[in-house]
Amino acid sequence: MQEFILETEGLTKEFRGFVAVSGVDLRIRRGTIHGLIGPNGAGKTTCFNLLTKFMQPSRGTIRYDGRDITAMKPAEVARLGLVRSFQISAVFPHLSVLENVRVALQRQRGGSYDFWRSDTVLRRYDERAMELLADVGLTAYAGAPAGTLPYGRKRALEIATTLALEPTLMLLDEPTAGMTHEDVDRIVALVRRVAQGRTVLMVEHNLKVVEGLCDAITVLTRGKVLAEGPYAEVSRNPAVVAAYLGSDPGVSGAAEVAHA
Ligand SMILES: Nc1ncnc2c1ncn2[C@@H]1O[C@H](COP(=O)(O)OP(=O)(O)O)[C@@H](O)[C@H]1O
Ligand SMILES: [Mg+2]
Repeated sequence: MQEFILETEGLTKEFRGFVAVSGVDLRIRRGTIHGLIGPNGAGKTTCFNLLTKFMQPSRGTIRYDGRDITAMKPAEVARLGLVRSFQISAVFPHLSVLENVRVALQRQRGGSYDFWRSDTVLRRYDERAMELLADVGLTAYAGAPAGTLPYGRKRALEIATTLALEPTLMLLDEPTAGMTHEDVDRIVALVRRVAQGRTVLMVEHNLKVVEGLCDAITVLTRGKVLAEGPYAEVSRNPAVVAAYLGSDPGVSGAAEVAHA
């Protein structure tokens, strides 16, 4: 087993001459929670799109779990366990919370998009769907239309549908964005729980969350890696302080700078 579940070399993405991701060497240690941070426009989401193969890199290679996945399609890497949390737009608002997870399970298990099988077949997924809802604290919401969930609970549902795909490496893009303090605490606990037995790579602006959750972080600025290492070490790095954390020594202040 490789020590690093994910390794990129010289990962680069250009958009019509604009270099959004530039020569990124990323190493994610198996079994850890790894944070990807950096100011808006740094290239974090583009990195995620490259890693999950939603975009093809202009240059560079991606190795996942010991194999070169650079030329693979999104569905192939998802099948190998590299899964990005769905965006809220991917939650079907008129389906119930339970049905949303069931659809995700069907994709994983059946490999077919034929939702309209017999009720008996569908019900086989319900048991597992209820387990996943319990994992993310949504048991009480199982029958509710997904569209009626409060924001923080929608993110939890998103995580449940991601878990349905049995990720080995789970990518979360700003899981606490736009949340109330209470929701943030709940998502932090949830990420910690779902990280057991897998690897998590997360983009996160809230540095308190990063500090509390992440074993290691990579700081991106203008598409390049500025620093990588444990949070305590990287957050003291003068280049990181200057470029990202700004002059404000307060962690929450810095997070706001990052959001600006
Ligand atoms: N599809 C695209 N076409 C052109 N430019 C893009 C595209 N996607 C992202 N960019 C640009 O690449 C840079 C990095 O964007 P992004 O990866 O979304 O940053 P982050 O997630 O760190 O905020 C930004 O300047 C953005 O405008
Ligand atoms: Mg982004």
